[in-house]
Amino acid sequence: MSEPLYQLVYYSRNKVSGQDDALEAQVDSILEASRRNNQAVGLTGALMFNSGCFAQVLEGPLDAIEATFERIQRDERHGDVSLLALDPIATRAFPNWAMGFVGHSTKNAKRFEQVGVRSGFDPQRLGAQKVHAILRDLTLDEEGLAERV
Ligand SMILES: Cc1cc2nc3c(=O)[nH]c(=O)nc-3n(C[C@H](O)[C@H](O)[C@H](O)COP(=O)(O)O)c2cc1C
Repeated sequence: MSEPLYQLVYYSRNKVSGQDDALEAQVDSILEASRRNNQAVGLTGALMFNSGCFAQVLEGPLDAIEATFERIQRDERHGDVSLLALDPIATRAFPNWAMGFVGHSTKNAKRFEQVGVRSGFDPQRLGAQKVHAILRDLTLDEEGLAERV
């Protein structure tokens, strides 16, 4: 039998300071580490951010989620990390993403903007289900645009 899967959803306050370039460089470095580390321990997921906050979904074996989340919580590029959900799941929602990042395409940047404007992108108010649904929607779109072979 394969190992049981779990899914964790959290949000946090973005503490990366500086202009767009600095923010982009930090996000690139977060994604680079995420993809490298997550793949090695069987984690998948998605990350979204704006200048105010991050929201992330992590899915995979519980021990890998816990070890990774411990590390993430200690990261000084964000603060006030708030857990929204940690639940067992039957299947992965982001099977193809060691860490999907929402916002690469202009189309998604636009949609993300709209979500942000409508909701104020307040993940606490949105709740885990909604954050998850938004990330899944947007990453499915990215997948379609990615022209994978
Ligand atoms: C919002 C946010 C999300 C992150 N997500 C992940 C992640 O999914 N996986 C991961 O390994 N590190 C993630 N990190 C980075 C870790 O905090 C840490 O810097 C990194 O795991 C260190 O990896 P390294 O020692 O291999 O360089 C995240 C950091 C932030 C600020």
